[in-house]
Amino acid sequence: MELNKEKLEILKQSINKIESTFIADSFLINLIRVNEDVEIWIIKSINAKFIATSTSYIYNDDDDNILFCSLRVEEKYRNSKIATKMINFHLELAKLLNRNSYLTASEGSWMQGWYERLGYKEVTDADYEAKEGYIWMSKNI
Ligand SMILES: CC(C)(COP(=O)(O)OP(=O)(O)OC[C@H]1O[C@@H](n2cnc3c(N)ncnc32)[C@H](O)[C@@H]1OP(=O)(O)O)[C@@H](O)C(=O)NCCC(=O)NCCS
Repeated sequence: MELNKEKLEILKQSINKIESTFIADSFLINLIRVNEDVEIWIIKSINAKFIATSTSYIYNDDDDNILFCSLRVEEKYRNSKIATKMINFHLELAKLLNRNSYLTASEGSWMQGWYERLGYKEVTDADYEAKEGYIWMSKNI
């Protein structure tokens, strides 16, 4: 998903609001401020049913990073590059905010390989332990 100049400007302004929703390339982008943190939900729906979601978290106490999680595409719609569009949107957001992106991946899974192809590397000195069987990965912007 590519954000044109106009959408990027909306996004930039939205970060400071309590809540904002807009459409980009058939995805619904919903920003919600929760206390001092910001959650950005990317949702794709078909016939009023959610078929794909992901969330980017911007934490107030971390100026350097943005977290990508809760990525899921309904089975029927997989392998059509929907997740690719969603993570690309997240990476544009990271670039816009000048933050590195980080996420967890199931160790040794094809998802880890996919994230590596996108430029993510394993983080070995993370502040928090990832859940069992998972590793932290990050991509410098
Ligand atoms: C992970 C998930 C979101 C991928 O969604 P998707 O829309 O099918 O992914 P895309 O079509 O954009 O494909 C992304 C890449 O993964 C590869 N890929 C997709 N499904 C794959 C599979 N089952 N096995 C191996 N590679 C696969 C694609 O070839 C593509 O690689 P490329 O860009 O190098 O060509 C989806 O499989 C899913 O929801 N899984 C269950 C939830 C989950 O595990 N979430 C991830 C948490 S880390």
